[in-house]
Amino acid sequence: MKMLAKKAMCNSHGQDSSYFLGWEEYEKNPYDQTKNPNGIIQMGLAENQLSNPDAASFKREGESIFRELALFQDYHGLPAFKNALVDFMSEIRGNKVTFNPNNLVLTAGATSANETLMFCLAEPGDAFLLPTPYYPGFDRDLKWRTGVEIVPIHCTSSNGFEITESALEEAYKQAHKLDLRVKGVLVTNPSNPLGTTLTLKELNLLVDFIQAKRIHLISDEIYSGTVFDSPSFISIMEVLKNRNLMNTEVWERIHIVYSLSKDLGLPGFRVGAIYSNDDMVVSAATKMSSFGLVSSQTQYLLSAMLSDKEFTQTYISENQKRLKQRHDMMVSGLLEAGISCLKSNASLFCWVDMRHLLSSNTFEAEMELWKDIVYNVGLNISPGSSCHCTEPGWFRVCFANMSEETLNLAIQRIKSFAEATIKTLIDNKSQQQSNKNSKRKSFTKWVFRLSFGRETSER
Ligand SMILES: Cc1ncc(COP(=O)(O)O)c(C=O)c1O
Repeated sequence: MKMLAKKAMCNSHGQDSSYFLGWEEYEKNPYDQTKNPNGIIQMGLAENQLSNPDAASFKREGESIFRELALFQDYHGLPAFKNALVDFMSEIRGNKVTFNPNNLVLTAGATSANETLMFCLAEPGDAFLLPTPYYPGFDRDLKWRTGVEIVPIHCTSSNGFEITESALEEAYKQAHKLDLRVKGVLVTNPSNPLGTTLTLKELNLLVDFIQAKRIHLISDEIYSGTVFDSPSFISIMEVLKNRNLMNTEVWERIHIVYSLSKDLGLPGFRVGAIYSNDDMVVSAATKMSSFGLVSSQTQYLLSAMLSDKEFTQTYISENQKRLKQRHDMMVSGLLEAGISCLKSNASLFCWVDMRHLLSSNTFEAEMELWKDIVYNVGLNISPGSSCHCTEPGWFRVCFANMSEETLNLAIQRIKSFAEATIKTLIDNKSQQQSNKNSKRKSFTKWVFRLSFGRETSER
């Protein structure tokens, strides 16, 4: 039994219309003055080929291919690019797993990939379970246009925000209490905002859970190429392979989201992908990708870039080296200011513990602290509450989007701020204590007067 959304299985897309069927017939037998003079002449395509500018930068064997790229609009994507992208995805995973380009759907970034998967897998009012803290953009990407609900899997600092069986079961129960049908779990691996990779124990737990509940698992692996330290990254695909779950029922319910926005630092290119083991999901998502295609020029440029193995190898290792250096610089700088971070091994940010700088253990105090940091210290960081963290005082702080000098300046600002805040907190506490003491003193005096007043005055 398929457990997909009605939208993914119905025919209302219009692909069977004679409008598209005519195109397909043309593709099979295209007219060419010399090679196929009896072929079908394409008169069903509203394309302007009369005055295409011949921009010179895109060339194949010395010939400009600008026109070819300007006219290509097939939503299956350029085969050369899809091949290069799946190879790159394998390379990032140490070539322990391979990906079939036929199971890949190109999308305009991971934003579009995640939303498309929601449209394919869930009806409005169905729910996906997400471990907290999670990427704030998911409230928009997963819920906004799809009508899908997010039910949090509450993770806490007590075990380094690990996903546990009881937290998963609790979230599942909570969804049922809210009368929501659970369609799946979505995780980010490596995690945004924690900057940590999922452990094998967590990954096995997730597979067992979705197997038992017969639901989907989406693994958003947008940060897979940013793992700069041990333990190494384990993709969900590797788990399936090692557990011999390939081509089983659960295999079809596991989908990967990827993008070049983080690993290659190209968010403006808008290149993302869905990798699914379910052919129906691939087919439905491909049709939906019409609303967010990756431009042909981008695909062409990137297929050249990613096919250069020397480049990809050097890039991946150099990028990881630089990320580690930046991460270490931030962690040690913050530590000097008495601020610690969750131990992390990936991503472009740290999950920073500022609980000791809160005036009270509340989200109001977290907001107060955040406003102070944005408006008075001049640093834009993200409060944990925006990531649905259940404990006040955690912040996501990015380190890879600026120069080393700027990062140094930011660390200096945090240091001075932390010192001043701690001093104020200590002063306030001792003031409160002395207020308490003086209140207690006057109270004792008052009680003393009441009980012994006469005797005292008589003396
Ligand atoms: C976990 C996660 N998924 C998806 C996205 C969206 O990425 P893209 O730029 O590819 O749309 C982001 C961006 O920050 C992210 O952190």
